[in-house]
Amino acid sequence: MKTNYKYVKNMLSSDMVEFLTTYAIRKASEGKNRPDELVPLSTSFHAFHSDIFNHIIHFLQPIVEKETNLNLKPIYSFNRIYLPGSDLPIHKDRPSSEISASVTLKYFYKDKDYKWPLCMGDKPIVIEKGDGVIYKGCEIDHWRPVFSQPDGCWHHQLFVFYINKEGPFKDLEEETTQEKVDSNVELEKKLEKITNN
Ligand SMILES: [Fe+2]
Repeated sequence: MKTNYKYVKNMLSSDMVEFLTTYAIRKASEGKNRPDELVPLSTSFHAFHSDIFNHIIHFLQPIVEKETNLNLKPIYSFNRIYLPGSDLPIHKDRPSSEISASVTLKYFYKDKDYKWPLCMGDKPIVIEKGDGVIYKGCEIDHWRPVFSQPDGCWHHQLFVFYINKEGPFKDLEEETTQEKVDSNVELEKKLEKITNN
């Protein structure tokens, strides 16, 4: 991928969007969500807590490989239900997110004309349901402004993360357990030291 990000239409069908959001809402109502340090006013899920959200990384892999023209290894997925007042602070991702995709699932806004962009650097991008933005998560700053809709509104977003099989992070492994997450974080610290020197 020559640019730092690209918009990709129809990464997920509307049926798949409906399926994933209803699944996440049901899991959240069962208390299967987890606190989210980056966005405290949201609720989120890591893939290893769910076979379905683990499989979605593999399901989307051929699309992301075609769009980036890279051989990829799936690392993890993550999804977040943003609530009113949430913003996403400006940040870059950890090396496990070398190639990231952010896909819009369902949302509910009281104001039907409301748009809530994901910003890549200073470029706001409104991602329609089922569409995604593929981006180099550890290279480009990304963020969202405050989700300024009233109580009762929400926005559900899916993130899938891969590394380039021929790149500097090729030894990171798919995060299927907490132990794998921890060992990736340790390896990332070492790799970042090497790539920063
Ligand atoms: Fe990020």
